[in-house]
Amino acid sequence: MQSTKTIFDSETIRKDFPILRRKVHGKQLIYFDNAATSQKPKQVIDAMDFYYRNYNANIHRSIHQLGEEATAKYEEAHEKVAGFIHADSYENIVFTKNTTESLNLLAYSLTDGLKKGDEIVISQMEHHSNFVPWQQLAKQRNLKLKFIEIDGEGNLDEESIKNNITKNTKIVSLTHVSNVLGTINDVEEIAKISHENGALFVVDGAQSVPHLPVDVKKIDADFYCFSGHKMLGPTGIGVLYGKKELLERMQPFLYGGEMIREVTFDDTKFNDLPWKFEAGTMNIGEGIGLGAAIDYLKNVGMKQIQNKDIKLVQYAMDKIKGIKGTTTYGPKERGAVVSFNIAGVHAHDVSQILDSDGIAIRAGHHCCMPLMSILKVPATARASFYLYNTEEEIDKFIGALGKVKKIFAI
Ligand SMILES: Cc1ncc(COP(=O)(O)O)c(C=O)c1O
Repeated sequence: MQSTKTIFDSETIRKDFPILRRKVHGKQLIYFDNAATSQKPKQVIDAMDFYYRNYNANIHRSIHQLGEEATAKYEEAHEKVAGFIHADSYENIVFTKNTTESLNLLAYSLTDGLKKGDEIVISQMEHHSNFVPWQQLAKQRNLKLKFIEIDGEGNLDEESIKNNITKNTKIVSLTHVSNVLGTINDVEEIAKISHENGALFVVDGAQSVPHLPVDVKKIDADFYCFSGHKMLGPTGIGVLYGKKELLERMQPFLYGGEMIREVTFDDTKFNDLPWKFEAGTMNIGEGIGLGAAIDYLKNVGMKQIQNKDIKLVQYAMDKIKGIKGTTTYGPKERGAVVSFNIAGVHAHDVSQILDSDGIAIRAGHHCCMPLMSILKVPATARASFYLYNTEEEIDKFIGALGKVKKIFAI
């Protein structure tokens, strides 16, 4: 791919994604399920293919050429991630399986010093991945789990932020961008409030890192979690960023090979960061694939991607709102998702009819059942966009929504 720093040419970009050429039910695929997982450019597929064909070996242990090459590439991927989110060093970057595992790691390892009655604050818009681990920890340790409320627009309520984060709060864990409402939370401000109250601030960045420039130091996040597969990378690789002094103090989540420095019959000394948290044989090919995804995103430019997302999502919102009987959820200023319902039609039916036209969206509770109860709906349909989508595709999608209405005679 040529450098697209100045020109964001959808056609050039689309050529990098082999899957976009396929047909579904005889129709050209339109892929609007990017919040669930993104498609992969050939650069990522090739990087993984090259690894398996040419230097597949285990890392950090094999004293041979292949092992050294694999180790170098895998470590380089940590450096690329660090640079991408403006972390100090690869030592801040722990590879996990996904955002879910990164958040679980924290819920297991951040428990030192927590005592009965201490409070953890999340919000009503959290994905189950940033909800259930804290809920279970609270139950096991007799802690109090509190929820920042959302207002009528789908933003975090400012009063509720101030009322919930207090001197009793030990951990605040919030999503940067909501996977349902698209809300972009002011994580920099909430980090400040958390720290003023002596709490740690964790960010679920599953929907932000793929779509906008993220600077973990500017945010002053203590921990920041995201998934490779939503940012053009492969499945099976995720990231936990953490401040060094905090990671150093934390107990490892998994014990075993490679996370150790020395083991005796009596005790174990743990490895240096970040390897202390990467036990056993890791997803090496996937880590290398994530490195290639970061190269691709950087080459296009995160600001460019963000601008394109905004254009697409606003275009889609305007068109959906123009269809009688539709409700959209969330604020006007948003990330690249639009959740909606058509009165009298279940979201699953919307998705199924769109699928017959080759259009892939998501329908359901989006792993946000508590939020659905606040919105008072069992499910929504959700279209989510990424750098390879176009306004022409949105026009076809809007046409297909007309077909849904016709089928249901509404
Ligand atoms: C906001 C948010 N957090 C967490 C997750 C979980 O990501 P993963 O399934 O990759 O662990 C998702 C996935 O959709 C998400 O949208």
